Amino acid sequence: MMNTAPTEVTRNARPFLHGPEAAAINDALQAGQYGHSSRVEEFEHAVADYLGVPDMVAVASGTAALQLALLAAGTGPGDEVIVPSQTFCASVHAILATGARPRFIEINPHTLCIEEDQVRAAITPATRAILPVLYGGRAVDLSALHDTLESQGISVVQDAAHAFGSRSGTTLVGAQPGLLTCFSFGPIKNLTCGQGGGIIPRNAAEADALRGLRSLGITQSQQERAATTTYSVDGFGLRATMSDLNAAVGLVQLQHFATVAAKRKALWTSYATRLKPLTGVALVDVDIEHTVPFNCVVHVPDRDRVFKELRSRGIGAGVHYPPNHTQPAFQTWHRPLPVTEESGRHLMSLPFHPAMSDDDVRYVISVLEHALPQEDACGES
Ligand SMILES: Cc1ncc(COP(=O)(O)O)c(C=O)c1O
Repeated sequence: MMNTAPTEVTRNARPFLHGPEAAAINDALQAGQYGHSSRVEEFEHAVADYLGVPDMVAVASGTAALQLALLAAGTGPGDEVIVPSQTFCASVHAILATGARPRFIEINPHTLCIEEDQVRAAITPATRAILPVLYGGRAVDLSALHDTLESQGISVVQDAAHAFGSRSGTTLVGAQPGLLTCFSFGPIKNLTCGQGGGIIPRNAAEADALRGLRSLGITQSQQERAATTTYSVDGFGLRATMSDLNAAVGLVQLQHFATVAAKRKALWTSYATRLKPLTGVALVDVDIEHTVPFNCVVHVPDRDRVFKELRSRGIGAGVHYPPNHTQPAFQTWHRPLPVTEESGRHLMSLPFHPAMSDDDVRYVISVLEHALPQEDACGES
């Protein structure tokens, strides 16, 4: 085993640039288009074309995408939004920012995703929306609940921050009818703009509403505003636009997305093969045929010690995520969630990004193998 960790395993994740991104940013700078301008529209069209949907609304972040989508779905004070506790805290903050409250639910510990029965049991008269998190990129199918949700006026706002490029059956995530889908284009996501997010609206009226919500309630375009002495604030809105600098990066990344998706799938498959012989390590189940994996997560015994051991050997182990219902800020909405709590004590993310090689994976596995609790002669650890 090498004494020094190879560079690419030292970080849990990192952006993967193809080269032309810097020139694309420079073009935007030279054109004086630092803010929201034509590249954002171009990026919106390019993503919509990729997904085969009529429209995409680009926003400043994945968190903003969730908040705006929930607002467009009519979420507000007094409402409840069903969400797994096992997600990044951004999902919860987006709910709170609308004035609604989160109702935390359990996950399937093998996939870290929610299932229909758990959602069905949590619906109350206050439920306004369901926020399934497509953990690690895995699609969540709630289609069996469709009639129930529709009859009760409950929207599905999917947190697809991890899931750009994944499929639900044969349909790309984002192209499933009847759902609001929110992507993050943050620095380490499957598709990155540096920072950014995107919402796939359910219809044209919703797209218009979202464009008002992201632009301080002003619905005229930049060109329309430039031609008049006033503008009209037609509703509530935030400053949540994407900039041309970010869109310039996203446009380059999208052109190369097939390469990144293939690298991510190959990397996950390499981990899956090499993890198999390791006793006591359970790889979180990713439907690799349909998923562009965002990460590689395992459940390990004695996680805190193993994590520290990997870190001390220079390996960028991570924990995604400590459950939200145990966070100090979210205690008001705490309820016992034993499956999530047990899973949260054992899960650990291994370094995962497209620049990693097979040798990097081999190195991580060799260190992990040594760090695991050793079995004694009777086979007990
Ligand atoms: C599951 C999940 N939801 C939402 C977000 C928020 O996205 P952003 O960082 O672009 O605001 C993230 C970001 O990591 C995430 O992992």
